[in-house]
Amino acid sequence: MKKILATGGTGYIGSHTVVELIQSGYEVDIVDNLFNSKATVIDEIFKITGKKPKFFKADLLNKEEISEIFANNHYDTVLHFAGLKAVGESVEKPLLYYRNNIEGTVNLLEIMQAHDVNEIIFSSSATVYGVQESPEYIETMQTGVGISNPYGRTKYFIEEIIKDQAIANDNFKAILLRYFNPVGAHPSGLIGEDPNGIPNNLMPIIMRVSDGRIPELSVYGNDYPTEDGTCRRDYIHVVDLAKGHTVCLNHLEKGVKIYNLGSGAPNSVMEIIAAFEKASGEKLPYKIVGRRAGDLAEFWANANKANKELNWSTELSIDDAMRDTINFLKNNKGK
Ligand code: NAD
Ligand code: WQD
Repeated sequence: MKKILATGGTGYIGSHTVVELIQSGYEVDIVDNLFNSKATVIDEIFKITGKKPKFFKADLLNKEEISEIFANNHYDTVLHFAGLKAVGESVEKPLLYYRNNIEGTVNLLEIMQAHDVNEIIFSSSATVYGVQESPEYIETMQTGVGISNPYGRTKYFIEEIIKDQAIANDNFKAILLRYFNPVGAHPSGLIGEDPNGIPNNLMPIIMRVSDGRIPELSVYGNDYPTEDGTCRRDYIHVVDLAKGHTVCLNHLEKGVKIYNLGSGAPNSVMEIIAAFEKASGEKLPYKIVGRRAGDLAEFWANANKANKELNWSTELSIDDAMRDTINFLKNNKGK
């Protein structure tokens, strides 16, 4: 069985993936600087799985700390979740994003190379597609054109860096996973999306509106060319997304593979509000406001490649995601 290191493993997607990996029999260590997550996540992972992953509080920008972890532990594969992800903040502080996400990744790749660790699965994003003629994104499309913010560009640049590393190193095996819009929480209610500070994404904002921490949701525009006028996205349950990583561990081959991880079926903002209201039995206060800069009307994944090659597809619905999010909130988590 492969031994895994998950960077950013106490974060939202990382923690769910660590749970799936442990439940599939893998031994997983976590490195995270806890910038956007809490060490208590480790205890929750233990409650769910009965196993406590080894945790290193360390920063990818600190090469000495990270090198020491690799010197003292053997890893076969790195799952690289660590990164900053707030789109708006990245516009205001681009250098912070380039420093953290790109330098952090280059450090990681150098240290992996020094310790002969040749397998990486990278958390990329649908954002690398930028602007396309068709809203159904497919892996063969050209990337990097029309990306509207520095965060998105870090994902594009890191993809290119990993491709170059694979050209230079014959033993290198990489999978770039382009996530669409992850939502939901673990059905145990013990882990979920719990960002430090003010959230930017739709679901964590809805969670804060539902428990009164934010008075109402601002819906960014209802004049888009979609059926109800609000933007449509491919929301994917985080447990489905996590399982996508587990299957990839058996598909690492020399070179770089790229997969979209999405459902292929988009929902509008109004549909998300309706699904949340249905699951909670309560009205969600919202108002329609102007469009948010940089938002596209709609896009979704063509997930055929992951369906066929990885034998992976989403199993959970938007209703499942809303139920699990509300369960996480009721457990007094996500606060
Ligand atoms: P998250 O913020 O919950 O998790 C990221 C983790 O990385 C955090 O725990 C943070 O403390 C840690 N981290 C950040 N910089 C670090 C550094 N320099 N050294 C060590 N740890 C560091 O975010 P998430 O939603 O779980 O996202 C995980 C990955 O997936 C990110 O790379 C993100 O860009 C990518 N992604 C997320 C989404 C999304 O909508 N959530 C969509 C596409 C891609
Ligand atoms: C979803 C929809 C908003 C908040 C971003 C990144 C992308 C990826 C996922 C990491 C949009 C609307 C939102 C609110 C709203 N992340 N909305 N009111 O913008 O699709 O994608 O996160 O890689 O790269 O760009 O996700 O959750 O911010 O927004 O009406 O208060 O909800 O306009 O249509 P987005 P989101």
